[in-house]
Amino acid sequence: MKNDKAQPKVCIGALVVAALVAGAHADTVTAVNQAERFLSLFSVVRFKNTACTGSSGDSGTCYAKHSCLLNGGSLEGTCAGGFGSCSKIGCGGTSRNNCTYIQSPGYPNTFSTAMTCTQTIMFNSDVCQLRLDVTEVDLAPPDNRGMCLEDVLTFSQDTKWSQVCGTTLNTHYYLDVDPDASTKVDFTFNIGAGSYPRKWKIKVSQICCDQLSMAPMGCGQYFTSTTGTIKAWNADGSNRVYLHGQNYATCLRKELDRCTITYTETMDDWFLPRCGDTLEFPFSFLDALNPAVGVTCIDNAGIRPVLQPATATLQGPQQIYFVTGDGGNDHFGVGQNSNLDLEFSQGAC
Ligand SMILES: *[C@@H]1O[C@H](CO)[C@@H](O)[C@H](O)[C@H]1NC(C)=O
Repeated sequence: MKNDKAQPKVCIGALVVAALVAGAHADTVTAVNQAERFLSLFSVVRFKNTACTGSSGDSGTCYAKHSCLLNGGSLEGTCAGGFGSCSKIGCGGTSRNNCTYIQSPGYPNTFSTAMTCTQTIMFNSDVCQLRLDVTEVDLAPPDNRGMCLEDVLTFSQDTKWSQVCGTTLNTHYYLDVDPDASTKVDFTFNIGAGSYPRKWKIKVSQICCDQLSMAPMGCGQYFTSTTGTIKAWNADGSNRVYLHGQNYATCLRKELDRCTITYTETMDDWFLPRCGDTLEFPFSFLDALNPAVGVTCIDNAGIRPVLQPATATLQGPQQIYFVTGDGGNDHFGVGQNSNLDLEFSQGAC
């Protein structure tokens, strides 16, 4: 469903007002010769902070070049007829830009030098969420209890994930931020001395407090599409062990003219966490070998959970709670699938 038209563009509106008041600041560029080619009546060119494509094929948000530089980004390609640019930061970098790529040293090459790498996103007081579009975060894997002992990524705001490590590809997450407490988030990567080849690339977008596309608070993933793949951190890791210290919901909006939902596990068996941790699903799980018995977690390797029913009526938004506080259990080898990674599809009415 497209809801672009209904979205109040408050942030962008505020930017334009700021531009009119401050003149030189924000996204206005005094027209130079190029502009005169097609805009003889105007002395100022304005453009929205719309998505654009950088020279490396990344999509970014369009910024006036001087605005981007003032905000601390380095330029990444051009957009808006050559007037705008997208940004990215490396270790120690800070960016205010909506749409900033945070990248590991030498990306897309890997590195394996012990270091602490802090990358900071700053925002205005009307921003309540950061959306992280993860191209890849490839850090040393957790141990079998889901503890990030070698490498660890932490966020200075939001408590959904106390630690992140392992391998995660092509998915998104939301951080809730409180601009009254702090108008920045530090992404701190503590990289250990091991030889694991690390790299990461995350696009960070800023979502305004009154924006319709804001995810409900507490939703670590929020899907507004009829199909998609739900994925917890480290679902693409070699050991796929789920992480310790998670507490969030995966949320799915009910789309227009969709009345059923089907979940499909990507592996043979349904993932359920070790007992002591919680995956609360809006469906029931049964033990395939003993179908009269419901299961909510696994401590016995003999249990093969199946989802019942596989397709159900979609009466409203779906929420799947994932709470892992148990660092004492061995998470590895529980069932055949040791992380949350599943597809969904909303069906017609
Ligand atoms: C950032 O860009 C997104 C996508 O274009 C937009 O929805 C959002 O309002 C922008 N945020 C700010 C703070 O301008």
